[in-house]
Amino acid sequence: MESARTIADLRRHIGIWRGGGDRIGLVPTMGALHQGHMALVRAARAECGRVVTSIFVNPKQFAPGEDLASYPRREAADLALLASAEVDLAFAPATADIYPAGFATVVRVTGLTDVLCGAHRAGHFDGVATVVTKLLLQSSPDAAYFGEKDYQQLIVVRRLVADLDIPVRIVGVPTVREPDGLALSSRNAYLTPEQRRIAPAIARVLRSIAEAVARRPNSVACELASGREELRKAGFSLEYLEIRDAETLTPVTDQLTAPSRVFVAARLGRTRLIDNMPLTPPA
Ligand code: PAJ
Repeated sequence: MESARTIADLRRHIGIWRGGGDRIGLVPTMGALHQGHMALVRAARAECGRVVTSIFVNPKQFAPGEDLASYPRREAADLALLASAEVDLAFAPATADIYPAGFATVVRVTGLTDVLCGAHRAGHFDGVATVVTKLLLQSSPDAAYFGEKDYQQLIVVRRLVADLDIPVRIVGVPTVREPDGLALSSRNAYLTPEQRRIAPAIARVLRSIAEAVARRPNSVACELASGREELRKAGFSLEYLEIRDAETLTPVTDQLTAPSRVFVAARLGRTRLIDNMPLTPPA
């Protein structure tokens, strides 16, 4: 596996591969890699001759008071994992390379970012949209891979790529879970053993809502109310539990008629967990 620390180095490798006719797949990450990330790598590996994974803890997507300083950093282990998955290039730039002095541009996707995590994490999606735009322009991949675990992020990225005419295919990859249902996340490392025991309630509640509204599409309000109650009783401090249209994120409060998703963000102590699942209206 090659590695690149600078944008110039990244471009040099990619230029050679592209010249040789290879398709390039990009998997953007913030490191602390787990099997969720590796599912994106495998999807890229299956479709592209060359796979590039970026590791960059992007300061612009952390709001003041969030966990930027404590975010897990495990670069040596990450690089070993990527090498074993036959990634061709790990791109791990310095912050000053991505945001040199004088950096003054913000990429903002309006509308989709007003709700869910966007309403709770000031500036988060501006930071994501800005860094993802830069990573796409730096590596000019044929395809870039994002997890459905961060579903709002996935559709924000799809929107910006369409709006800015960036010639890349955005591929969404289903969420990878622990055997007890908990979605894999770098932030799961913050959970105490007791919190880790409680955490799978999130996926249980989402699954039970998905099953209920598939059977009774007009049970949305009642299912959301009991899901909220159950999470609070389990010890979560709830940010949101909502059903929204899978494309527009318009709220679904009554009857399920179009493909939608149920979204949750909840805290256990200081740790913020998010998850979502697809909902299909009966045919
Ligand atoms: P990070 O949280 O490291 O996640 C990198 C990618 O892995 C994202 O596309 C995320 O959705 C995906 N991912 C995380 N957990 C997953 C799981 N359990 N199953 C499937 N995919 C999963 O998301 C980011 O970094 C950043 O916002 C980034 C896009 C890199 C921009 O900084």
